[in-house]
Amino acid sequence: MQLSIVVPTFNEAPNIAELVRRVSEATADMDVEVIFVDDSTDATPETIREVADAASIPVRLIHRQDHIGGLGGAVVTGIQAATYDACLVMDGDLQHPPEDIPLIAHRLDVGDVDLVVASRYVAGGEAHGLADKSRVMVSRSSTALTKAMFPRRLKDVSDPMTGFFAVDRRSIDIDDLQPRGFKILLEILARKTMRVAEVPFSFADRHAGDSKASFRQGLHFLVQLAALRFGKMSLFAIIGGLGAVANVLIVWALTHLGMDYIVAAVIAAELTIVANFLLIERFVFQDMRSEASGVWSRFAKSFTFNNVELIIRIPVMALMVGTGHISAVLATAITLVVAFFVRFVFHSLVVYAP
Ligand code: GDD
Ligand code: MN
Repeated sequence: MQLSIVVPTFNEAPNIAELVRRVSEATADMDVEVIFVDDSTDATPETIREVADAASIPVRLIHRQDHIGGLGGAVVTGIQAATYDACLVMDGDLQHPPEDIPLIAHRLDVGDVDLVVASRYVAGGEAHGLADKSRVMVSRSSTALTKAMFPRRLKDVSDPMTGFFAVDRRSIDIDDLQPRGFKILLEILARKTMRVAEVPFSFADRHAGDSKASFRQGLHFLVQLAALRFGKMSLFAIIGGLGAVANVLIVWALTHLGMDYIVAAVIAAELTIVANFLLIERFVFQDMRSEASGVWSRFAKSFTFNNVELIIRIPVMALMVGTGHISAVLATAITLVVAFFVRFVFHSLVVYAP
């Protein structure tokens, strides 16, 4: 069978030769290529070139300058560049035993599934390579949270966070993936219903070097979960909520400095409107920025909308309280919620018009 093996690497020089040796041995009766997609800042690329020259199987190197999407982005690049449709993804530190490749690949080759997940949490699997107790807890609880958020799509998957899997490239819409950080499999599973099989594997200890997992990766994961589950709207809401809090804090600080309340409120509102635009431009609608409309034109639309909304909301609230006999708090809440949806629709359809 033919198989492209995609290996993302970030500073893994001492692991390359051993990985290629064990992969070649394990796949002796298959047609394989290994594609390293490398974001390293050390000598890993040179090591890969040396190992490639001496290897008995084709070893390719894609060294990325932009590092877009980190580990997940590297995997997408590798799958796009692969020679074969059957693609297996594995880490470069030998925590994923190369000896399991044939079993995973042959399961995919049967043809009744699109994706084969190598799982630590299915009977026969093991997670002992998770360095310490806290890492085990993080892994277990984030897996539980993720499964709860995608009950149907992850029904058959015990380990949606694994980095060891094989996929038939034709079954995914590769251009729709928006990988950020480590959880590329989750990205693939959550976007589309896939036919999945699992095989157990034992997560081994690292051959050499240190893990690149970090608190920052944890945050990436939470943002990714929210983005996948609730789409752009949840991020938009989170950013809007943060803006409201910032608004209050700025008014508080400025009035404490002796500024007039109205002036402070206007400054706070305008500052949060600008900050809000910068954040949604960067994190919510980043894939919808068209070349046709420049950033200043988008900013002008967003800025105008938010100011008009600000000016309209006050009399509308007064009207609701005055004629509708609604309490001021309820009127504020209702207008804020309505304004949120209108603002979201306006930004998706007008500011970031296709
Ligand atoms: N190209 C590229 N770019 N590769 C990266 C990057 C990056 O920014 N960050 C990490 N890698 C590579 C590493 O070099 C390694 O080959 C692989 O991705 C996994 O990184 P590790 O640093 O070894 O991560 P881990 O062992 O903590 O996490 C692994 O297990 C998790 C499950 O507990 C990964 O497989 C995760 O995807 C998995 O969720
Ligand atoms: Mn690792």
